[in-house]
Parts: sequence; structure tokens; C-alpha cells
Amino acid sequence: MSDPSITVYRDGPLMLRGDVQIVDQDGNVIDPGREKTIALCRCGKSRMRPFCDGTHNVIRFRAPGALENGRE
Ligand code: FES
Repeated sequence: MSDPSITVYRDGPLMLRGDVQIVDQDGNVIDPGREKTIALCRCGKSRMRPFCDGTHNVIRFRAPGALENGRE
């Protein structure tokens, strides 16, 4: 399997690819229900957080698909 990666999608979720394990703050494994690609909610409005359920489209979430320059 390839090295894990996270892709930031414009106006959408964070896509995890590769061999990663998601755990809660107590170390309990969270089963994403799939193996290859996992979408993590970035808009905060999903009803199945930490996973994306597509609500970002409904609320017209806007965010860049790259690094914001708020640090400068
Ligand atoms: S990013 Fe998709 S529901 Fe939040």
C-alpha cells in the first residue's frame, strides 16, 4: 500500500489515502466503513463527524484547496 497522504479539497473535505488508522481521543479505533479513501469533514456540519457526509455542498462551504496565507 502507498504511503498515507491527506489531500485538501477546495470547498470540501480532507481526503485520507493510504494505510491510516483513525482513533478517538481515548485511543478507540473509529471504523470509517471503508478502506482505501476516507473523507474527513472540514466544514464542521457533517452529521457523521469526523467523516464528511456531503453537507459541505448544502451549506456552500468555502475554503481553499491549498495553504491559506493567513500566516503572513
Ligand atoms: S466537509 Fe463535507 S460535510 Fe463537512
